[in-house]
Amino acid sequence: MAAVFLESERLWFRAPEKRDAAFFTEALQNPLVRRNLMVGRYPFNQEAEEAWIERQSEPPAMDNKTNVVMAFGIKGEDRSIGASGLHNISAIHRHAEWGITIGRPEEWGKGYGREVARTMLHYAFNTLNLHRVYLRVNADNERGIKAYRAAGFKEEGVLRQHMFVEGQYLDMLMMGALRTE
Ligand SMILES: CC(C)(COP(=O)(O)OP(=O)(O)OC[C@H]1O[C@@H](n2cnc3c(N)ncnc32)[C@H](O)[C@@H]1OP(=O)(O)O)[C@@H](O)C(=O)NCCC(=O)NCCS
Repeated sequence: MAAVFLESERLWFRAPEKRDAAFFTEALQNPLVRRNLMVGRYPFNQEAEEAWIERQSEPPAMDNKTNVVMAFGIKGEDRSIGASGLHNISAIHRHAEWGITIGRPEEWGKGYGREVARTMLHYAFNTLNLHRVYLRVNADNERGIKAYRAAGFKEEGVLRQHMFVEGQYLDMLMMGALRTE
């Protein structure tokens, strides 16, 4: 088992590794999974995914990273089930955009989504000293919206027809969580 960076009740979190590449490549191109993602509209291969993972794994930095991505999996299992990241971290405004993908559909609806959300919020507020974390989610992604609400995100507005999914434009919800909440 590689170095675990964070733990929650049922999950571990660590830096993405090259051995995650085959799973990420498959998951992000699975129509069920990529439907709700901003990525996954173009085909890509495992070498490209490995190069992306390589780019995430800079040596430890004192501060000022603008993207932090972690793979996560179920305690007692070595393989990852998804990835989650804080993106566009602003050193001035102390905010970041959060994203999550559970790439194994058989693991959806078991409460892992909210567990990841809570863990990443705790990390964002208490380790990275962020003030606000926000996300965008398809307005018809009920599973996600329920999970994010349960973790403490509040609905903040609608981005009308922001996403093109299977032939139609869909609204996206903006949700956010403040450390002070
Ligand atoms: C969105 C996602 C992260 C949510 O994680 P999850 O582990 O499935 O979510 P949870 O189990 O914590 O919560 C799911 C909620 O939806 C409900 N639910 C489960 N299946 C559902 C369905 N088919 N329709 C509507 N609600 C559903 C659950 O009952 C639960 O709500 P509750 O607490 O009110 O009972 C995960 O499903 C996923 O990665 N999906 C594919 C990619 C994706 O959508 N990424 C997010 C882009 S913003």
